[in-house]
Amino acid sequence: MKAIEIRRKYLDYFKKHGHSVIPSAPLIPENDPSVLFTTAGMQPLVPYLLGEKHPEGKRLTDYQKCVRTNDIDEVGDNRHLTYFEMLGNWSLGDYFKDESIAMSFEFLTKELGIPVEKLSVTCFAGDEDCPRDEVAANAWKKAGIPEDHIYYYGKDDNWWIAGEEGPCGPDTEMFYDTGKPACGPDCQPSCDCGKYVEIWNNVFMEYFKDENGYRKLEQKNVDTGLGLERMTMLLQGKETPFDTELFSPVMDKLKELQKIDNIESRRIIAEHLRSSMMIIADGGRPSNLDRGYVLRRLIRRMIRHMNKLQIDLDSLKELIDIYVRDLGEMYPELVKNRETIEQVIIEEKDKFVKTLSNGEREFQKAIGKLEGTNVIPGEIVFRLYDTYGFPPEVTKELAFENGYEIDMDSFNELFKKHQEKSRAGSEQKFKGGLAETTEETIKYHTATHLLNAAIKKVIGKDAHQRGSNITVDRMRFDFNCDHKLTPEEKQEIEDLVNKWIKEGLPVIKEEMKKEDAIKSGAECMFIEKYPDIVTVYTIGDVSKELCGGPHVKNTSELGRFKIKKEESSSSGVRRIKAVLIDE
Ligand code: ALA
Repeated sequence: MKAIEIRRKYLDYFKKHGHSVIPSAPLIPENDPSVLFTTAGMQPLVPYLLGEKHPEGKRLTDYQKCVRTNDIDEVGDNRHLTYFEMLGNWSLGDYFKDESIAMSFEFLTKELGIPVEKLSVTCFAGDEDCPRDEVAANAWKKAGIPEDHIYYYGKDDNWWIAGEEGPCGPDTEMFYDTGKPACGPDCQPSCDCGKYVEIWNNVFMEYFKDENGYRKLEQKNVDTGLGLERMTMLLQGKETPFDTELFSPVMDKLKELQKIDNIESRRIIAEHLRSSMMIIADGGRPSNLDRGYVLRRLIRRMIRHMNKLQIDLDSLKELIDIYVRDLGEMYPELVKNRETIEQVIIEEKDKFVKTLSNGEREFQKAIGKLEGTNVIPGEIVFRLYDTYGFPPEVTKELAFENGYEIDMDSFNELFKKHQEKSRAGSEQKFKGGLAETTEETIKYHTATHLLNAAIKKVIGKDAHQRGSNITVDRMRFDFNCDHKLTPEEKQEIEDLVNKWIKEGLPVIKEEMKKEDAIKSGAECMFIEKYPDIVTVYTIGDVSKELCGGPHVKNTSELGRFKIKKEESSSSGVRRIKAVLIDE
C-alpha cells in the first residue's frame, strides 16, 4: 500500500467514525514562538486540549506535517528522518480509552490488514502521579490482543508530553513485529534491536504538567500519532523508509549521479532535500538564527554530502523536480511553490559554495601559521565557523586530509557560549511576539489590542486571538470565528477601533501576580506560557491584556485604522490584515 493510500484510508476511517477532517497546520507554527517547528499533530491543537471549543467539534482527524530536529545528526541510518508526516485523531473531551483502542485495533487489523499476532501493545505501569492503566490493557484484551502481547512500562516509555510543560498523560503504544529474530530472552517492544517497531501512540491526555507538578485537566482527551513513513515501510515489507516510493526515485537518481558510493550520504541528501523543500514551501528561509538556521544546516549538510559523493551540484534542480512530481499529490504546496523552492535552495547552495572556497583558503592560511604542532586549536575552528560560516565538520575533514587533528573540546566550549548568546537573543526577539521594536510596530501593537477588543464586541466573546504578526507597515491578526465576516461586521469593527483611537484613551501598564491578572479578566493567548508575575496593559475601559509590551501611551497616537483584507487562515480561524494611516 502506498503512503498516500494509507493516509486516505486513515482519514476516511476516522471520518466514518464521526471525526471532522481538519487541514495540516503549517510546519512553522504561527502562534507558538516556544517551538521552532510543528513537531506533533497535537501542537496546533493545544488550546482545544485545554478546553477551548473547536469549531469543527469534539472529534478531529488530520495528517500533520512535522519536523523534529533533535535527531538531525542521526539521519543517514536506517530510520531517522527530520521531516515526517503524522496521522492523528483526537477526542476533545469526547470518547476515551475504550473507544480509542477499539478504533485503533480495527483500523490496524481490518483497514490495513495487519495480522493480530504481529501486534504488541504497551500500557502505563503506574506511579505516584497516575495509576496503572488497567483500563487500556483491558480494552486491548477485549479487542483481541493476547495477554502475553501486552507490556507495562513506566513514565520513560509510556507517558507523553511535548517538552517540559503542557497537557500530557499516560499513553498506550502499538508495536509491529518485523519477524526478525529476538535479540535475546528479554527482547520486548521497549528493546531497540529492530524486531519491534513502534507504529502508533495513543495518549490519554487528562493531565497538565507545570513547575508545580501534575494536575488533572477538566477534559479527558485522546491524542494519537501514527508515523506515515514508518507505516508505509512496514506494510511494504521494506527495511527503511528510503526504500519506499516516498524516497526511492530520488535515491535511485543519486545512485546514478554519484561517483563515490555511500548509502548514508545518499539518505542524508534525499532526506534533507525533502525536509528543506517542505520547510521552504511553508515559508521558511535560510538564516543564521532559529528556524532559518535549521534550514541552512539541512541544505548545507546535503551539499556537503553531494560533494562527498562527487555529485554535480547542478543536479539539485533535477532532484527537486522528482520530489515535486512524486510528492505533489500529497503536498500540493510543493507544486505551488516549486519556483521559490528551487530558487531558495540554489541560492543557498551558491552561498555555501563560496563559503567553502573562502573557508578553505583561510584554513590553509591558518595551518601555515601553526608551528610545532599538528593540533589545530579550537579558536581557529571557531573563527572559521563564526567568521566564514565554515562548518566544523568540514574543518575536521580538511584537517584529516592534511594530516592534522582539531581540538574539538575547546571548539565545543566556544560554540556552546556562542549558542547561549544567540539563544538569549532569540528569546528577546520572541518576547511579546514583537520581532523588532520601532515607533511603527509599537503603534501596531496597541492597535492589535484594540482590534482584539473590537472583534469580541462585534463577533462575540468566544472570538479569541489565535495569532498576530506585526511589521513596520502592517498588522495581521488571527482569531477564531466560524464564518467569513460580512461587510457590515468589518465596518463595525473598523469603526469601533477608530472611535477608541479618537477618544484618546490612556494605555496603562501594571505588573501583577498571574492569578490576579486572570481574576481581573485580562485576556491572553496561552496562560501557561507566562511567568508568575505578569505585565497587564489596560486601554481605557475597552481592553485588558497580558502582554510584554511596549505600547503607546495614548490611543490618539495611532492615526486611522483601516482593514485591508479579511480571509480564512485555517479551519475556523479568520485573518485580518490592517494598516494604520497617519492623519
Ligand atoms: N502526540 C503524540 C506523539 O507525538 C501522539 O507521539
